Amino acid sequence: MRLPGTLLLCSLSTAPAFAAVDGVVLAGYLLDVSTGNYQRDQALLLDGERIVSIVPAAQAPKLPNTIDLSDAYVLPGLIDMHVHLTSDPTKHGYRALAETPQREAIFGVKAAEVTLKAGFTTVRNLGAGGFADVALRDAINDGETPGPRMRVSGPTICMTGGHCDNNLLPHIYRAQSGGVANGSDEIRSKVRENIKYGADVIKFTATGGVMSKNTDVNAAQYSQAEMQALVEEAHDRGRIVAAHAHGLIGIKRAIRAGVDSIEHASFVDDEAIALAKQQGTYLVMDVYVSDYILAEGEAAGILPESLEKERAVGQVQRQNFKKAVQAGVKMAYGTDAGVYTHGLNARQLSYMVQWGMTPLQALQSATLHAATLLNWRDHNGTLLVGQLKAGAYADLIAVPQDPLTNIKVLEQAPLVVKGGQLVSTGE
Ligand code: ARG
Repeated sequence: MRLPGTLLLCSLSTAPAFAAVDGVVLAGYLLDVSTGNYQRDQALLLDGERIVSIVPAAQAPKLPNTIDLSDAYVLPGLIDMHVHLTSDPTKHGYRALAETPQREAIFGVKAAEVTLKAGFTTVRNLGAGGFADVALRDAINDGETPGPRMRVSGPTICMTGGHCDNNLLPHIYRAQSGGVANGSDEIRSKVRENIKYGADVIKFTATGGVMSKNTDVNAAQYSQAEMQALVEEAHDRGRIVAAHAHGLIGIKRAIRAGVDSIEHASFVDDEAIALAKQQGTYLVMDVYVSDYILAEGEAAGILPESLEKERAVGQVQRQNFKKAVQAGVKMAYGTDAGVYTHGLNARQLSYMVQWGMTPLQALQSATLHAATLLNWRDHNGTLLVGQLKAGAYADLIAVPQDPLTNIKVLEQAPLVVKGGQLVSTGE
């Protein structure tokens, strides 16, 4: 038994003061996203990808590996909780039929880089055929291609003919999407299968959708028992669950089943908002995308029936977003990029401000609150993303103006640091 060695290792790992510092980021104005306060002239001390401590800049060691942002506003890298990096926003409807998961993964390589350069250092990818998202995540993690940290779902799970299924072709083609499962037992095995092939999170559809053929946004998909089985199975495996839901019955069923987030939540009412508050369920409301769908829709191949549905959903969703903000329900930032152009993820921030949030609340939804919903932590329980604290990844962005005064400054490409490495200097 090599006891002295063990003791040495223990003392090193519990005493961050002795940890190696191999990089420094100087921050002129460092935003604490939990309070909205700036600290002047700070230095983030790094050990590889992680922050080990934050000290006044004057006390920072002089290291060759220093990123000097002493003139800039520095905040955590942004998080988008609802993207489809492997989806091409110009190929909707029948155009999407010509796509393969392999082609989609290759498309995703560009989309990932563009998203990272837009200041989004973490994304949650909610739905990709053939596990194209797993391939992309792993290529990014292996350093083969630049991109945000990805937490991925694999194929969306839904009932036969549901929002995730392929409803475009007549029955002679026997087209069925990879995530289709019916009944509690099949749903449980689909959750297990998704996890087996690399899913970090589970996504399912609890109602019809805008972009799918022949589904009703108001109609629930899956029974209470089916949703409960899905959530129980996912939570047993330590995976959070995201439920796509526009209509009220599906929203309420999914909240009662214990999902972690409701995506879209378009027709959420006071009762459902109260239920979400009581259960601690997050709402992830994509209040920008409607503008793209209605403006570009036809040119992008979006089905006429989808445009019709969007007209019924878009504005109501924004009004309900305002109600939900006022009621104080938990909210995380999710845009549905992939339905619209990748890299424009920050556009939604000003929409959220227009529809009732303060700039700080909007920023919190895209940092701390998104990270808390993701629940991605190290062994000490420290969140790995969403805040600049000891233990977290050194994922940050820098902008020339105070985003709390002008949230739109985040729409211009910021300087981006991911894992302590400068990945983009912005425009
Ligand atoms: N992926 C979503 C769906 O097909 C897009 C909804 C977009 N519309 C909106 N107003 N959020 O249902």
